[in-house]
Amino acid sequence: MVSTLPRPGGVATVILAAGKGTRMYSDRPKVLHEICGKPMLGYVLQQVRDIGVNQIYVVIGYQGDKVQKTFKNEPVFWVNQGEQRGTGHALSVTAPMLSGFEGSILVLYGDTPLITTDILKKLFETHQAQPETAATILTCQLDNPFGYGRVLRDDHGQIQTVIEEVEATDDQKKIKEVNAGFYVFDPGIVYPLLKELKPQPKNGEYYLTDIVGLLINRGKRVAGYLAPEPGVCLGINSPAELINANRLMRQRVTEHLLSQGVTIIDPANTYIEPDVTIGRDTVIYPFTVMRGKVTVGKNCSVGPFSHLREGTVLEDYARVGNFTELKKTLLGEHSKANHLSYLGDTVVGEEVNIGAGTITANYDGKSKYQTFIEDRASIGSGTILIAPVKIGKGATTGAGAVVSKGQHVKDGETVVGIPAEPLKKKKKK
Ligand code: UD1
Ligand code: CA
Repeated sequence: MVSTLPRPGGVATVILAAGKGTRMYSDRPKVLHEICGKPMLGYVLQQVRDIGVNQIYVVIGYQGDKVQKTFKNEPVFWVNQGEQRGTGHALSVTAPMLSGFEGSILVLYGDTPLITTDILKKLFETHQAQPETAATILTCQLDNPFGYGRVLRDDHGQIQTVIEEVEATDDQKKIKEVNAGFYVFDPGIVYPLLKELKPQPKNGEYYLTDIVGLLINRGKRVAGYLAPEPGVCLGINSPAELINANRLMRQRVTEHLLSQGVTIIDPANTYIEPDVTIGRDTVIYPFTVMRGKVTVGKNCSVGPFSHLREGTVLEDYARVGNFTELKKTLLGEHSKANHLSYLGDTVVGEEVNIGAGTITANYDGKSKYQTFIEDRASIGSGTILIAPVKIGKGATTGAGAVVSKGQHVKDGETVVGIPAEPLKKKKKK
């Protein structure tokens, strides 16, 4: 991948994520706002890792400890930007680690989570193909470029500078090609230039984008790679943009699942997060929610109105119906939980029928416990299973049974009542 590209020394990445995100009107640091259930910085990190970069520096500042804690398992270097004085200043805090780096550096922002590995690779390839360039930037064409830095080109189409919205003249504001905020730099040239950035008179910020003009003034060349579709460049600065990013991400998830042979009857009314995998010929009915890591096999049926949460696995031909919630639960092949149930921390075998209104009472206020329901068991409507419990193979619970904590219903046995007890055989008259 990128590490095998011909420029010497490999690739290091810097992700700028120190800003507060004032325009979000939120106390939460912007990069921790979630898109389809995951903080936006997570998407950026994922894409960078997926192109094979393993030297990753993340610049943090506003509530940096919180950001660091959220990603504590990520193998990245955290760099603190004490005071947030603009994107140029943010990159400069990595100078002690990277100014002598002999490869290329990829700089990107923590608030652009829709970027894809394909685009990042193309950006690198463009940079590689033109060894005389000191920097290559990702650009895109937007119908509404408001808020983005505009890319100014000369008569030969060469990039000259990037002008931010606040500094742009009315004519410049009409330019639709914008800076997407992804840069491949030659560190030996760019780090010394950061010292020459001047604070903007209007807001006192040091703009990373001013580097483009500085390079051109020194006779260096700056190349651009124009993203083929603008959605990948979306920067998130406001709640409305966050909602839009959620919509685009969901669309991406849906398109991927459809390409795998999954039927989603009504994508606009179905919420599926990116870590969900679904096998072919499975049908998802409307108003279904699938969150976190959920694995659904082939030929299953889910919904309408089902809620599958983190750690749920449906094996092939399983069925989950309306108002049924599953969490950390395995539902075996051909098993069904069709109506009004909650199954948490439960392992269900094959060909089990979970009757309407079955509840696993998996939490006693302090700890969570597991429930085991073995193959071909039949759980009567309205059964409450006070975990930990085990229902043996082919066993049955009667409607309304309350199976006590610690109870083991033996294979083939039928239990009924509150508390559930083995059904007595009727005496022959
Ligand atoms: C920036 C670009 C703009 C581009 C747009 C693309 C600059 C000056 N402008 O504008 O040309 O079109 O992104 O989305 O770079 N950050 C820090 N420290 C700081 C300031 C910002 O780490 O002192 C981080 C933020 O956390 C954020 C990123 O840098 O993740 C970008 O900052 P933001 O203020 O959102 O820049 P934009 O105004 O969107
Ligand atoms: Ca931004």
